[in-house]
Amino acid sequence: MQKEIISDKSPKHIAIIMDGNGRWATKRGLPRNLGHKAGIKAIERTIDAMIKFQIPVLSLFAFSTENWKRDKEEIDGIFSLVRDYLSENKDSFLKKGVRVVSMGDIKAFPDDLVSSLESVQEETKNNDKLTLNLALNYGGRADIIRAVNEVIKDKKTKIDEKDFEKYLYSYPLPDPDLVIRTSGEMRLSNFMMYQLAYCELYFTPVLWPDFGEKDLKKAIIDFQKRERRFGGNK
Ligand code: FPP
Repeated sequence: MQKEIISDKSPKHIAIIMDGNGRWATKRGLPRNLGHKAGIKAIERTIDAMIKFQIPVLSLFAFSTENWKRDKEEIDGIFSLVRDYLSENKDSFLKKGVRVVSMGDIKAFPDDLVSSLESVQEETKNNDKLTLNLALNYGGRADIIRAVNEVIKDKKTKIDEKDFEKYLYSYPLPDPDLVIRTSGEMRLSNFMMYQLAYCELYFTPVLWPDFGEKDLKKAIIDFQKRERRFGGNK
């Protein structure tokens, strides 16, 4: 029984669908935004564990193109949490070597959130221990359609996979090789639909605010037991 991570078989890019904040709060009789607030603590634990396990890229589904359907109060609460998290953690990102990048149409977000995101991206751009890729107002189909429109703008009449990847939000990050979804739901909910083509899927019943180092380790060990054939047969 494998109990420890084998470092040369680790994933290079883990993508996480952080689900279950609302249920975590409701179970405790708390408002949903306190679930999201507890979710921030889980993000901090996960970043530390990623650095400890030397996995270089973490993508987090923080706000989807479908999340606009939620109550304004909850949406505004998430925006404030993200803004405060980014501005309060600049020093910690620098100390830990975290580079922050983002994907999605952030123009739709409040100005204060956009400016704290832009400034943290600029200030952390030379860090190289962990790339933290935040999906904000992101949808996998919107990512593909935007890329197609950029291809048309560039007047290309033919394109291959290598070229097309350059038009995706996540370029030049490698494709995720492990996606984790918490809270027992088993779907991808329009997350990185092009980039996840060969990704290993891992679902856990743990609610996102309870997620931490031991859960991440379990997912990585599970990943390491899988045989990845990429469509081949050996
Ligand atoms: C899913 O739980 C969670 C979200 C849609 C929002 C996640 C956002 C954060 C944790 C804050 C993001 C912050 C940063 C810094 C990236 P849910 O509300 O859908 O849970 P439920 O399914 O139990 O209702």
